Amino acid sequence: MILVFGQSGQVATELGRHLPDALFLDGAACDLGTPTECIDAILQTRPRAVINTADYSNLNGAEQNESMAMRMNAEAPAAMARTCEELHIPLVHLSSDQVFDGKGTAPHLPSDPAHPLNVFGHSKLLGEQGIRASACVHAIVRTSWIFASHGDDFVKEMLQIGRTRTMVNVVSDQIAGPTPARDLAYALMAITEALVVDPTRTGTYHFAGTPDVSLSGFAKEIFRQAGQDIMVNEIPASLFPMRARLPLNCRLDCQSLRSFTLQRPDWRAGLTTVLQELDALRS
Ligand SMILES: NC(=O)c1ccc[n+]([C@@H]2O[C@H](COP(=O)([O-])OP(=O)(O)OC[C@H]3O[C@@H](n4cnc5c(N)ncnc54)[C@H](OP(=O)(O)O)[C@@H]3O)[C@@H](O)[C@H]2O)c1
Repeated sequence: MILVFGQSGQVATELGRHLPDALFLDGAACDLGTPTECIDAILQTRPRAVINTADYSNLNGAEQNESMAMRMNAEAPAAMARTCEELHIPLVHLSSDQVFDGKGTAPHLPSDPAHPLNVFGHSKLLGEQGIRASACVHAIVRTSWIFASHGDDFVKEMLQIGRTRTMVNVVSDQIAGPTPARDLAYALMAITEALVVDPTRTGTYHFAGTPDVSLSGFAKEIFRQAGQDIMVNEIPASLFPMRARLPLNCRLDCQSLRSFTLQRPDWRAGLTTVLQELDALRS
């Protein structure tokens, strides 16, 4: 059995479609804010692998609630890793492009130095470091701009705006690869099985959709595919009111995942599927 932290999140829901025998723990069953609960959950269930999709994901909220972000994003994954090491099972953990400072224009390699600009990124980086400090077999998978037909994300935010307005301001100098949750879930499953068979593949990896695009470019494609006639007014991130400082260049070099025969998915095709699913849900 595989134990998954997270149940109703975007990635956990997609994992749930394809891992019927996995055990999914929501925040009520195991609160990452109390990291000892993660230890107990792993020891009590004795899984053959652990996937952590759960975290404190509110970037602006983390600036005000640093201690909770640190407990959930730094201490909890480190506790999971120590317990996995004790049981000799692998941990697959989701991290974020927010660990980088976003300078330059080149895609970030997994080995590039991390310099987070915000509390959320700092907490995720400490989580990564806690995992590496244990001797646990692990894959840390950094990703960007996840979207799915369920949960809250940029796609649904834009669709809602498209129903009520004729113009929207969207940042044009933040660049990343939007990532369909379904493709990411497939990748996590493949990586988990590979680590069970071959622990030498422990390490840090990047997985994001292709092609890289600005947030405003992403918004335009959402409106185009949804048939919504909205004017996208492109603005620099410096003019967008955010409590957290965000990195601009979030391009991730995903080549290392080729060793798992995984390729970057085309997010435009993933978007088409998600829009079809949302249509089906409405009808
Ligand atoms: N979303 C993005 O654009 C994005 C970008 C880069 C990286 N990531 C990373 O990808 C991972 C998954 O993202 P996602 O979009 O699937 O996240 P999501 O939809 O926001 O889901 C978050 C998950 O965290 C769980 N959770 C929240 N508070 C908890 C608590 N106190 N105790 C235990 N679990 C708690 C939720 O549990 P319930 O099942 O109870 O709801 C939910 O399953 C995260 O590590 C995130 O940092 C996300």
